Amino acid sequence: MGRTKNVGHGWARAIAVPVAAVCAAGAGVAWVSSPARAADEKAPKHTIKEIMHKAHKDDDALLKKVTGPKATHDDAVALLELYKDLAANKPPKGDQADWDKRTADIVAASEATTKGDKVDAKAVATLKKTVDCKACHTLHKPA
Ligand code: HEC
Repeated sequence: MGRTKNVGHGWARAIAVPVAAVCAAGAGVAWVSSPARAADEKAPKHTIKEIMHKAHKDDDALLKKVTGPKATHDDAVALLELYKDLAANKPPKGDQADWDKRTADIVAASEATTKGDKVDAKAVATLKKTVDCKACHTLHKPA
């Protein structure tokens, strides 16, 4: 319970007992890809529109940074936070199960870019493919 609540808040996890941090790191990939997780996540901090701007559209959008030549670990972590928040949102249109699967895949691909001190080029390539703007908009973005 406490573990789930702390995820997404680096500082909170940092002050939590080390053993919890170790568990979270080890189990991370497995449970971020579980669609069930979106349901017991707390209310999202950003709307989908806000996330689209911060992650994708604005000049300093995080996906552009993470996929660019000057990607930093911090950018990758900040983008992961936004994608977790995206997964916690309800799609304004389309099938919830598809949304859960799609956003869980994005969270998992994004999480992979945060491993290690440097942003891994292969993980970035996978993330780019996974974040399929058009496919998701066709299914989930209201006209
Ligand atoms: C997992 C699904 C998903 C993916 C992937 C996705 N989007 Fe979106 N996007 C949405 C949804 C849903 C909306 C509509 C939100 C609403 O109207 O509340 C949206 C809206 C937008 C908007 C309009 C925001 C506004 O202010 O109305 C922009 C711009 C946008 N997306 C850009 C992108 C770009 C660029 C990419 C790819 C790099 C992308 N999106 C990938 C789901 C997605």
